[in-house]
Amino acid sequence: MVTGGRNYFCGMKKSVLFVCLGNICRSPMAAAIFNHQIAKMGLDSAFFADSCGTGDYHIGQGADSRTLAAAEKQGVAITHTVRQLQADDFENFDHILVMDQQNYRNTLRVADAHHHPKVELIRTYDPDGGIEVPDPYYGTPQDFDETFLILNRSIQRFISFRLT
Ligand code: 4NP
Repeated sequence: MVTGGRNYFCGMKKSVLFVCLGNICRSPMAAAIFNHQIAKMGLDSAFFADSCGTGDYHIGQGADSRTLAAAEKQGVAITHTVRQLQADDFENFDHILVMDQQNYRNTLRVADAHHHPKVELIRTYDPDGGIEVPDPYYGTPQDFDETFLILNRSIQRFISFRLT
């Protein structure tokens, strides 16, 4: 079954949810990078990715124009509508990767304790180290380029560690 663009309900695909605060900068970029890398590996029929925000400020909007520009420069297209994290995300996704400590705490608050192990900081997988993906929202276009690089290498390592 495919519902609203989400097809994890069929139970065949491994699913990954990326979470930030506003769901206009970091997490939609992360989901697009994930889909791009998976497609390049020919594995897109085996995985599903989505993104959301812990905040409700931008529900229904598209991704930030600076997010779109930074991704486009790297050949990654983003199609996105903002949504907020909801309780059934913890039933529906196998992995929930969050951008920073504040979102980590806020995400755990919405989840039953038995789901907590599936929630991880995405930079756990950054081969260059680091703890948080800095929020580029109040930053420069260069900050969005840096966000792309952090996410790209973290997701590459996440895929090779956890999914392949
Ligand atoms: P994001 O960035 O969490 O990476 O989408 C932000 C976007 C919007 C806001 C904060 C962070 N805001 O306060 O509206």
